[in-house]
Amino acid sequence: MKKIDVVLGLQWGDEGKGKVVDVLTPDYKVIARFQGGPNAGHSLVFDGEGFVLHTVPSGIFRKDSVNVIGNGVVIDPVILMDEIRAIEQKAGDITGKLQIAKRAHLILPTHRMLDAASEAAKGKAKIGSTLKGIGPTYMDKTGRNGLRIGDILSPEFQERYDALKQKHFGLLAQYDFQYDITEYEKQWMQAVEALRRFQFIESELVVNEYLKNDVPVLAEGAQGSMLDIDFGTYPFVTSSNTMTAGVCTGLGVAPNRVGKVMGIFKAYCTRVGSGPFPTELFDETGESLRQIGHEFGATTGRPRRCGWLDLVALKYAVMMNGVTELIMMKSDVLNTFKTIKIATAYRIGGKQVDYFPFENGEELTPVYREFPGWDCDITAVRRYEDFPQAFRDYVAFIEQETGCPVKIISVGPDRSEIVLR
Ligand code: GDP
Ligand code: IMO
Ligand code: MG
Repeated sequence: MKKIDVVLGLQWGDEGKGKVVDVLTPDYKVIARFQGGPNAGHSLVFDGEGFVLHTVPSGIFRKDSVNVIGNGVVIDPVILMDEIRAIEQKAGDITGKLQIAKRAHLILPTHRMLDAASEAAKGKAKIGSTLKGIGPTYMDKTGRNGLRIGDILSPEFQERYDALKQKHFGLLAQYDFQYDITEYEKQWMQAVEALRRFQFIESELVVNEYLKNDVPVLAEGAQGSMLDIDFGTYPFVTSSNTMTAGVCTGLGVAPNRVGKVMGIFKAYCTRVGSGPFPTELFDETGESLRQIGHEFGATTGRPRRCGWLDLVALKYAVMMNGVTELIMMKSDVLNTFKTIKIATAYRIGGKQVDYFPFENGEELTPVYREFPGWDCDITAVRRYEDFPQAFRDYVAFIEQETGCPVKIISVGPDRSEIVLR
């Protein structure tokens, strides 16, 4: 019996999960998303072309892969069908390659309106949500009101949809918010119909059956650990468990069936949306990271906030995810920096702490350790031995502090720009 391996983000999302999953897919048969929804934007680059996936697992372009959207995911049929059409233009019919959990919840047009109304009402305190309806959909899930993919097949679907929509209208009336869902609702109903050509599955049975038959399965996370609903920088988080624990609830796999946990981080740090970010840089260095790293959101196009690597937050994420190996992304972005910093502790109220505390807002000042930059182009490196010494020292420090080996290093956006150790 096989165990399920996991790839997930250890920072505030956008670590490069899409690229890594695409690179690793030839070693697996099944790729499964376990949480999040179209708030995710996972970029893949190959054959000189870029692709952004939101709901479909990043294994979809590899021959013979099976891609599962698990029960923990929330689905907007319009966004999913748009994505499927774009994929099919490039890769042909994917009907046989995509399976959708019947237990996955549906994002209704009114969930999107509720997301927008709630954010607008928050004013300056807004989360910076992607406005895809994620929060309201998970609220209806835990509130036991939600509609699921499997419900599409029920003769009462329309009736249940209308009842939930009316409930949402009632909630929306409490906001000073103008909206019109007529056009989107039409597209939504058409997309729901279009989805019927895919296999709706009991993903928990299917995934466990794969594992029982020694079929290798890779779970693909969305967002990152610091956006986790329980352990992220609450309330500036997303509404799901983005960590390894989410694999169990989002796919129906038992904790003792989890194998390798591959934690991804950028060689520096970014965040999009509001909320604490202790190592954020507001100076030219931050701007350079943004420009060189093309740090603009894959889903919303918003500029990402940039800063140095935060080892305190990284160790926190490594601990709670049970990370067995690390993957360092976007190393090439640091090529030209003369000095590179890593936060190893925080100062808070005159005290120094080396853990990620409950009080994680502006009261934290990072304590940095400086490293000399490698100051050369590493994009063409394909063997670890060929990296400059300064680069290897940077990696060795991260390994020593986290207690985890860095097994994969990414040196550019393309599928081929990768160093496996
Ligand atoms: P995800 O959400 O974790 O899949 O990450 P995103 O796709 O949102 O953001 C990662 C961005 O970095 C994308 O534009 C990728 O094409 C790009 N990228 C991934 N790996 C590397 C790398 O090693 N170097 C550079 N320069 N860009 C990379
Ligand atoms: P991937 O999978 C980066 C952020 C939003 C906002 C907060 C809540 O591409 O790494 P939500 O729409 O979930 O209500 O937004 O979380 N966020 C992400 N940031 N990458 C993502 O996904 C994100 N998904 C949500 O910017 O701050
Ligand atoms: Mg992304």
